[in-house]
Amino acid sequence: MKYRQLGDSDLTVSEISLGTWLTYSGGVEREKAAACVEKAFEVGINFIDTANIYGKGASETFLGEVLSDRPRDSYVLATKLFFPMTETDSGLSRAQIHKQLNDSLKRLKTDYVDLYQCHRYDEETPLEETLAALSEVVREGKVRYLGFSEWSAEQIKAAAEMTGVEKFVSSQPQYSILWREPEKEVFPICAANGIGQIVWSPLGQGVLTGKYKAGQQIPNDSRAANDKMNVAINRLMRDEIFELVEKLRPLAAAENLSMAQLALAWVLRDERVSSAIIGASRPEQVVDNAAASGVKLSAHTLQAIDELLKDLPEIEAPA
Ligand SMILES: NC(=O)c1ccc[n+]([C@@H]2O[C@H](COP(=O)([O-])OP(=O)(O)OC[C@H]3O[C@@H](n4cnc5c(N)ncnc54)[C@H](OP(=O)(O)O)[C@@H]3O)[C@@H](O)[C@H]2O)c1
Repeated sequence: MKYRQLGDSDLTVSEISLGTWLTYSGGVEREKAAACVEKAFEVGINFIDTANIYGKGASETFLGEVLSDRPRDSYVLATKLFFPMTETDSGLSRAQIHKQLNDSLKRLKTDYVDLYQCHRYDEETPLEETLAALSEVVREGKVRYLGFSEWSAEQIKAAAEMTGVEKFVSSQPQYSILWREPEKEVFPICAANGIGQIVWSPLGQGVLTGKYKAGQQIPNDSRAANDKMNVAINRLMRDEIFELVEKLRPLAAAENLSMAQLALAWVLRDERVSSAIIGASRPEQVVDNAAASGVKLSAHTLQAIDELLKDLPEIEAPA
C-alpha cells in the first residue's frame, strides 16, 4: 500500500481507504463487515470514513466496536455531520457541531477524530458560525483536521478566505470514470488552498467492476439486488453505461488489472486525489481494490479511457 499526504495536513492516508456508508450501517452482515475491516488493516489501509447519518449512528457504533482493540494512532478516522439525525437535529450550526460531534465520539469510543467533515453545505447557517464552531472543536482537541463534502467552488473559496479560523484540508466529492465533474472547478480551487481530495464511489457503487451487463439480470449478490443497499445506485443502472464499462474490460486486461483496479488506478492517477474511498461487501474485494495502490496506468490506457468517455451518456448529479 502506498500513502499520500492529505492536503496541507500532516495526515498520511492510504491511497485506498475504507468507507462504511451502505455496507457497514446494516447492509452487510456484521461478521462479514468486521472481516472486511480486519482485511483492510492487513493490506495496509489506515484510513476509514464514516458519518453520523450512516444507519443513523449504526456505522459509527460498529466502528467503535471493531476498532476498540487497535491503538488509536494506528489509523486515521474520519466522520461527518449535516444530514438530519432527528427532526430537529441537522445542519452545521454551532449547537449542532458540538452536539453531533460529542455523539459521534461516544459511538466511536474515542476522544478525537482525525477528520471532521461537513457532509454538505448548510444554507441556513452563516459560514462564519460554522467555521468558528469547527475551530472550537479543533482547539478543544476533539478534532484534528477539517473537511467538507460536495461544496461548490464558491463555498470553498469563501471558507478559504475567512481569517482567524481553522482551515479545511480535505474535500470529499464523488469522483470516478463515470463522474468527472469535480475536475472542472473543485479540484483546482482546492489545490490552490492546500485541500486534498478523498473521493467517494470511485467504483461507481460497483458498476465500474463490470458486474452489471446490458440486457442481463442483475447478479443476486450485488448492491443493485440488495434492497438495503440499492437506495442510490439507480442513476447508474443503465444499459448504455454498462456498454461503455464493458469497453474498459480489454484495457484492464492489457494492464493486467481487474476492472476494479483499473477504475481505482484511474482516480489515483491525479496527485490531487489523496485517497479513493471504497466500499466493500466482502474481504476479497478489499484485497482486489487495495492492489490498485501504486499502479501507474500507461499513457495509452489513459488516452483510450478519455476517448471512451466522449460517448458517456449524461448522468444525473448525486443528491
Ligand atoms: N460524502 C458523501 O456524500 C458520500 C456519498 C457516498 C459515499 N461516500 C463514502 O464513500 C464510500 C464508498 O462509496 P461506495 O460504497 O458507493 O463506493 P464504491 O467503491 O464505488 O462501491 C462499493 C461497492 O462496489 C462493490 N465492489 C467493491 N469492490 C469490488 C470489487 N473489487 N469487485 C466487485 N465489486 C466490488 C461492492 O458492492 P456489491 O458487492 O454489493 O455489489 C461495494 O459495496 C462510502 O462508504 C462512504 O464512506 C460518501
